[in-house]
Amino acid sequence: MLKIDDYAAFCRVATPFYYYDIDLFTRTADLVAGLSERTGIQVHYSLKANSDHRLNDILSARGIGADCVSGDEIEFAVGCGYDPKKIFFAGVGKTDKEICQAFQVGIGAFVVESLEEIEIVGDIARRLGRKAPVSLRINPNIDPHTHHYITTGLYEDKFGISDRSFDEAVAMVLGNPYIDVFGLQFHIGSQIMEVADVVKLECEKVNDIVARFEAAGMEVKNIDLGGGLGVDYDEPDDNPLPDFEVWFKTIADNLKRRPDQTVHVEPGRSLVAQSGSLITEVLYVKKGENRRFLMVDAGMNDLIRPALYGAYHKIENVTAFYEDGPKRENRVYDVVGPVCESADCFGKERVLAKSRRGDRIAIRSAGAYGQVMASHYNMRPLAPSVYSDRLAEAPRKKDYFIGE
Ligand SMILES: Cc1ncc(COP(=O)(O)O)c(C=O)c1O
Repeated sequence: MLKIDDYAAFCRVATPFYYYDIDLFTRTADLVAGLSERTGIQVHYSLKANSDHRLNDILSARGIGADCVSGDEIEFAVGCGYDPKKIFFAGVGKTDKEICQAFQVGIGAFVVESLEEIEIVGDIARRLGRKAPVSLRINPNIDPHTHHYITTGLYEDKFGISDRSFDEAVAMVLGNPYIDVFGLQFHIGSQIMEVADVVKLECEKVNDIVARFEAAGMEVKNIDLGGGLGVDYDEPDDNPLPDFEVWFKTIADNLKRRPDQTVHVEPGRSLVAQSGSLITEVLYVKKGENRRFLMVDAGMNDLIRPALYGAYHKIENVTAFYEDGPKRENRVYDVVGPVCESADCFGKERVLAKSRRGDRIAIRSAGAYGQVMASHYNMRPLAPSVYSDRLAEAPRKKDYFIGE
């Protein structure tokens, strides 16, 4: 069950909102920063997963860098205190404006995804009288055994440069006086659960590819293995901290690196998912012909992952647990939102404590790719961030019937 230290204050907050457990988040950040220091593997948080300012301040204060995919993410990262030299800029469709923004900030590396982009980044560097630090994103053609929507390292994916173009890429970067070779970057997909096996395979493939580039005359000073570490969506309380130790150890044991080479990783989901929950209130318990619906006040505009990927999130009745303990029996519900789409469903046939209007429901493990993907669809307002240690500052639930 979701941990709530001050339940009374929690109940005064207007729903829906994203609830961030700051204690868990800080422990996660400390764990990763500690592992980074011990292993020398540099961490760049992939801030597309969650761009909450406070969470990013906590990460940057621990010396963690940032992996960005837009000009505005780069500027936001700087505002959160990330060292510009530890900011990488990836993405298959960088605009001229964004490339210029990145030069202005003085980022650590452009992660370049195609031969066409090498030419453009080099050309903009020439016009600005600068040198572009360039990492080549490689498509290693590895299946990470995850959802096809979040697989990124196969030939059929739009990301990265495949082995058929390696020689041309080397010739282009070495032949351009406005490009400084930074290294190679890999990212094979997200929500990888078979970490030891998949990352070992990734490292073996990376070892071969690095050797191939160096044999072609391109010195690989930096090896970036991307993100992808998965989290336990089924039982977030059993595994609140993802398997960072196994991830770092598998890399340390399997990646061949010389002392003059630096290794980088770009975790997104694993740093933030378990610390965030979407909190919503039951509006109606509707008895359909064949199903019982729990209509809640959060919708797919607040959390689109179930509709977009069929993603599973654990759903809990917080009120029943904190107010009635084990007294309420269980019922089976489809938990649905108010948006005018049949896909606006957080979970079908979920077993929950018997629920009533006004009960608070937690949709767990929603800290990654949740709030950042929210929209105003149906002209609905955005759910704000609420922090476990600052509940008193959160927007208050209104009483619309005062004086009634
Ligand atoms: C290049 C790159 N790095 C890192 C990440 C973060 O991945 P994850 O959130 O799975 O750790 C992504 C996700 O799409 C990515 O494309």
